[in-house]
Amino acid sequence: MCFALSLHKYNAEHFSESLLLANDLKKNMNPKKVHEVERMAKFIDMKCKELDCKYIIDIGSGMGYLGFVMTKLLDYKVLGIEISEKMSRKTNARAENGESGIPDMCLVGLHCCGDLSVSTIKTFCQLKSIKLLLLFSCCYHSMKQNDDRTFENFPLSSDFKFLNQHYCLNLYSFRLAAQQTRSSWKLQTSNDHHLHMLNVGYRSILELACHKYGLAFKKNHRKLTKICNNTSFPDYLNSICSRSTLTIDHSAMNKILALYQTCHPVMKLIEPFTMLQVMFQPIIELLILEDRCRYVKEQGFNCKVVQVFDDQVSSRNCAILAHK
Ligand SMILES: C[S@@+](CC[C@H](N)C(=O)[O-])C[C@H]1O[C@@H](n2cnc3c(N)ncnc32)[C@H](O)[C@@H]1O
Repeated sequence: MCFALSLHKYNAEHFSESLLLANDLKKNMNPKKVHEVERMAKFIDMKCKELDCKYIIDIGSGMGYLGFVMTKLLDYKVLGIEISEKMSRKTNARAENGESGIPDMCLVGLHCCGDLSVSTIKTFCQLKSIKLLLLFSCCYHSMKQNDDRTFENFPLSSDFKFLNQHYCLNLYSFRLAAQQTRSSWKLQTSNDHHLHMLNVGYRSILELACHKYGLAFKKNHRKLTKICNNTSFPDYLNSICSRSTLTIDHSAMNKILALYQTCHPVMKLIEPFTMLQVMFQPIIELLILEDRCRYVKEQGFNCKVVQVFDDQVSSRNCAILAHK
C-alpha cells in the first residue's frame, strides 16, 4: 500500500548492465562502493555517449573512486571537487596527471550530503556548458534549518511550496528519508531484528537516564559498543563506560537499572515501530527527490528520478537525472 503512495520513479534503462572492475581498481572500496561505482560508471557512460560528452565533474568526489574508473577504464576527463583537504591529498597522490580547459560537461555526484545536492542542482541549472546531471543525494537531515525549524532548501519547487503551509516535514522526517529501505529490512533475519531491538532499546534507556539524572558523556571511540544476543543491560552500561567519558556511581546505577525495569516491557514494540518507519521511508525520500526534480523542470530542463543501484546493496539507490 505504501509503495502505491510513494511518488513515481523510473528504472534506469539497461539496469542490469554494469562494469566489472578489476582488482586494482577496486582497491580500498567495500562491496557496496564497488556496486555503486560499477553501475554509476556504466550509466554515466551510456548517457554521456548520447550527448557526445567526454568531460565529467564529480562533486564531493571523496577518495575519487568514480573518477579513477571513468578515467582509466572509459577514457573520460574527470575533474573531482572535494572540500576535504585530506581526501583531495589522497586522491591527488593516486592521480598521475590532471588537465583543465573543459567544453560540454556532465556533472555527477555520488552521496552528495545535505545542501551539497542542492548546490549541485543549482550549478547544473546555471551553467550552460553542463549538459547532464546524475546526482545521488544522501543525509537529507544535514540540510540547513531556519530558526523556525523549516529547511532553507526544502521545498525548492513552486509546486511543493504548499507543504510548508499545511504539513511539517521536520528533522526526524528527513533523517527517516535517509534510512534503510524496505529491501534491506526484508533481508534481515529474526536474530538481526533481535539485535536491533536491543541496540535501540538500550541506547534509548541510557539517553532517557542521562536526561533524567543529569548525566553527560562524550565518545572516546567512533563506535560505542557492539551488542550480542546475550548482552545484558548492565553489560551494555559497563561497555559504554569503558569506551566513553561516562561514569556511573552506585546510586546512579541503581536508578538507571530501576528505569530499565520500567521501560523494558516496551522494547518489544521497537521492531513493529521500525517496520512502520521502513514503510514511510520511500514516501518521504521520493517526496524530497521529486521536489528537486520539479525545481529542475521549472528552470526549463528535462529531469526525472531513476533507480540505478540495487537497493538491497545501496539504500540511496535513486538518482536525479537531468539533461539540457
Ligand atoms: C558522503 S561523501 C561521498 C564521497 C564520494 N563521492 C563517494 O561516494 O565515495 C561526500 C563528500 O562530499 C564532500 N563535500 C561536502 N561538502 C562539499 C562541498 N561544499 N564541496 C566539495 N565537496 C564537499 C565531503 O568532504 C565528502 O568527501
